[in-house]
Amino acid sequence: MSIPPSFQDREVAVSRDAASPLRGRREMFLVPDGTIYLDGNSLGALPSAVPARIADTVTREWGQGLIESWNTAGWIDLPRRVGAKIATLVGAGDDDVILTDSTSVALFKAIVAACRLRPDRTVIVMEPSTFPTDGYIATSAARMLGLEVRWCDPSDPVRALRDDVAVLCLTHVDFRTGAMFDLGALTSAAHDVGALMLWDLCHSTGAVPVELTEHDVDLAVGCTYKYLNGGPGSPAFTYVAPQHQAAIDQPLPGWMGHARPFDMERDYAPKEGIGRLASGTPQILALSALDAALDVFDGIDHPTLRAVSVSLTDYFITLVDARLGSQFEVVSPRDAERRGSQVSLAHPEAYGVVQALIERGVIGDFRTPDLSRFGFAPLYVTHVDVFDAVEHLVAVMENREYARPSYSTRNLVT
Ligand SMILES: Cc1ncc(COP(=O)(O)O)c(C=O)c1O
Repeated sequence: MSIPPSFQDREVAVSRDAASPLRGRREMFLVPDGTIYLDGNSLGALPSAVPARIADTVTREWGQGLIESWNTAGWIDLPRRVGAKIATLVGAGDDDVILTDSTSVALFKAIVAACRLRPDRTVIVMEPSTFPTDGYIATSAARMLGLEVRWCDPSDPVRALRDDVAVLCLTHVDFRTGAMFDLGALTSAAHDVGALMLWDLCHSTGAVPVELTEHDVDLAVGCTYKYLNGGPGSPAFTYVAPQHQAAIDQPLPGWMGHARPFDMERDYAPKEGIGRLASGTPQILALSALDAALDVFDGIDHPTLRAVSVSLTDYFITLVDARLGSQFEVVSPRDAERRGSQVSLAHPEAYGVVQALIERGVIGDFRTPDLSRFGFAPLYVTHVDVFDAVEHLVAVMENREYARPSYSTRNLVT
């Protein structure tokens, strides 16, 4: 593709930001000065409303309200209230989403529950390049239930679908490459063989609009600390389609999912609806932070979010092509229709490249063996960030900064 010289002018980035429908949203975040943050696909930035909300939850609600706050501050309903906010971001009904555990645990509950809805079937279909936890959890669930995991071809999951499949479980946007599955088409394909569809939305929600109700998705889980900016370790969400809720039999039926938790009955009787996905006491501090964090999405519609995300990732790819040519392989799909809000570049020295960028204030991350990943959270990443990040990348390559001896030992969290 030939790039007009003017495209490589920083003023182009400035004017794109000025015209962006999301201009001004960045001011709702506390991104440190001098930092270009392209790692919101791993840990989202801090929304400025969060510190005060946590302080209030701790000092007033907990400190003064003490145990009363379960009622007076509405703690007991917080998993559902926050779920309703997330529902708007995933195209679901307000009553169909709940916040519970980590994504790994939520996934375990969803996989087992899905298999129990299809008791005459013996197979869980997984995709081998999925995030590792998904495969580990599915394998253990299969072992527990006497089922089998069938690993599908990532380029054609449909070929693994037969009438023995209980559930097809896929990650919507791939954590390594940013490649995005066609959520509607694959959900229909699963239904065609009578299977249920379970989506892991960790790398979509908050950056890639998802329409769960419209596409008749059965179950979904997702984390809240990436594009939803809930903070490190914030709890996961689970969606169950309304038509399945009455029959859902999840494998960790704790007291918080009981219809009458404070009657302390010996036998379990699940709550009506999505509430039965709860197990133990909700994580109120983390949920309060997430509740405040989600307000940054107020008033933004799905097409706007997507348009800005695509504009940022397209711009990054175009500039990398123009300024760095063949030095990097763009492993993310070039077709925006098949790409999430992330671009991954392959290079044999990717670890050093990422570390050298971090030293320059450009934060992306590394995934073994040779990927540098860059996430473009549309609410706080700007086109100027993209332009400047690519300029830094050019300097890292020209000066061979990636080859510093200190980068020969890898950090645990990269
Ligand atoms: C796609 C995907 N699924 C699952 C997980 C696991 O999430 P958790 O650590 O919250 O259990 C992650 C974590 O990054 C992820 O990216």
